[in-house]
Amino acid sequence: MKIVIANDHAAVELKQIIASYVSGMGHEVINIGTDSDASCNYPEYGEKAANMVAAGEVDLGILICGTGVGISLAANKVHGIRCGVCSEPVTARLIRQHNNANMIAFGARIVGSELAKEIVKAFIESEFEGGRHQLRIDMITEVEKRQK
Ligand code: RB5
Repeated sequence: MKIVIANDHAAVELKQIIASYVSGMGHEVINIGTDSDASCNYPEYGEKAANMVAAGEVDLGILICGTGVGISLAANKVHGIRCGVCSEPVTARLIRQHNNANMIAFGARIVGSELAKEIVKAFIESEFEGGRHQLRIDMITEVEKRQK
């Protein structure tokens, strides 16, 4: 798969670890996050990565900031993006299986690198189950359409 990864200054080290891990799994990683510790603004990175996912340029996206929340909020403003913040692998699996999440976010100040690898593995290796869950995904899309 082609996977975009983006991060702010709070997550440079963890991003590098996760990018290596994901490419070691055999995926193509596109790193668009900062590689500097200089303070920057996570919405810019969340939006850019989300636009790539929404446009179909990549299959999935991984977002990392201090908590995972800020960057996920920005990504979820892009139509077609379903990004969940996860601090453990069970949620990471379920957001794929039930919510058809196309992006995942987590916090470099919240999870350690080994747990982050498990989270990412669960997310990438799980598949959407469809069925009754599709109706709810369609309802989320309808919410987007009702927004101005
Ligand atoms: C940056 O200090 C921090 O606010 C950011 O990484 C993130 O945690 C926001 O949600």
